[in-house]
Amino acid sequence: IGAEIGDHAHYLIKEIDEQPRAIERALRGRLNERFATAHLGGLNLSTREAREFRGVRILGCGSACYAGDLGAQLIEDLARMPAASESASEFRYRNPVVEPDMLYVAVSQSGETADTLAAVQELQRKGGRVIGIVNVVGSTIARQVDGGIYLHAGPEMSVAATKSFTSTVSAFALLALHLGRIRDLSPTEGRRILDGLAALPGQIAEILEAERRTGAVVAVAGEIVQRRSVLFIGRRRGYPVAREGAQKLKEISYIHAEAYASAELKHGPLALVSPDLPTVAVVPDDDLLDKNTSTLAEIRARRGPVIALAHRELPTDLADHTIVVPKNEPELDSILMSVPLQLLAYHAAVALGRDVDRPRNLAKSVTVE
Ligand code: G6P
Repeated sequence: IGAEIGDHAHYLIKEIDEQPRAIERALRGRLNERFATAHLGGLNLSTREAREFRGVRILGCGSACYAGDLGAQLIEDLARMPAASESASEFRYRNPVVEPDMLYVAVSQSGETADTLAAVQELQRKGGRVIGIVNVVGSTIARQVDGGIYLHAGPEMSVAATKSFTSTVSAFALLALHLGRIRDLSPTEGRRILDGLAALPGQIAEILEAERRTGAVVAVAGEIVQRRSVLFIGRRRGYPVAREGAQKLKEISYIHAEAYASAELKHGPLALVSPDLPTVAVVPDDDLLDKNTSTLAEIRARRGPVIALAHRELPTDLADHTIVVPKNEPELDSILMSVPLQLLAYHAAVALGRDVDRPRNLAKSVTVE
């Protein structure tokens, strides 16, 4: 998990491959089986303080913000607290209402992003309590916040976030479990999440291994690179996965990509669907499966090519390609679903001969406004 590239062609694929270990490190020492909860020593919050928060607001930029979207859903699901994620850059330019009974969470891999830091400072000036989810130990944001969770994912060198994204979502699951267990979440439910978390590293290794064996994602990437634009869709937890997948593809391959919440298709982008515009759809086997398959049918009726991420092979009348991903608990499936989308962006960028680790016009951490 060091900063050496070793035998890897690019840092990006090295960091994708490191995810089983990165997540293991994010979870290490934090799974408390006895009390079916998460042990998070760095939060600096007493149980009493943590119980008194009425809700959670999450701030970050780029992939950190999308990971925050998944974090908000985890907190709402497991802790039953209202939670929302917002881009830190938008937040700082508003005149935000800072509520004393809100828990604010700043998310940043580098801990140096200027917009995120400015949001933290503005919050603190107005009396907000801010914790951080940060990878780089001792970074500016890590020092500025009142406590938090370090990812321990190891250095992330490639500009595009990969292991920091999945580690951040895993850290949010720990936070949600902790907040849930001091509220209404039962020990049985707590154990279900603990078991799910513990299974993640092995399941990510399975995804990576399956790709080495079958090259399924490489094949799909070969088709994607022929297109000018790709649509990514998902519902609920699938939507931030789609947003992150679209971001990854556009930033490293320069293919235009746009993410939509599936139900929003009919409010605009369905007009674009044609044999020229492929859709990548996140289709977990959960209570929304029927809704998601009927969206696919609408796309197919307009002869749009479909690539699905699913828990089992979908019939060919719904999807041209299914990338099958192992199943975890519904709250955690998004972590696994995002891995093949990282591979898709990577292989598309490689096929197009892009500068994978240093995409044009972008910086790893944006320390200017
Ligand atoms: C830059 C990077 C992104 C990253 C974002 C936030 O735009 O290119 O990959 O998600 O900054 O970075 P942070 O270090 O705050 O997580």
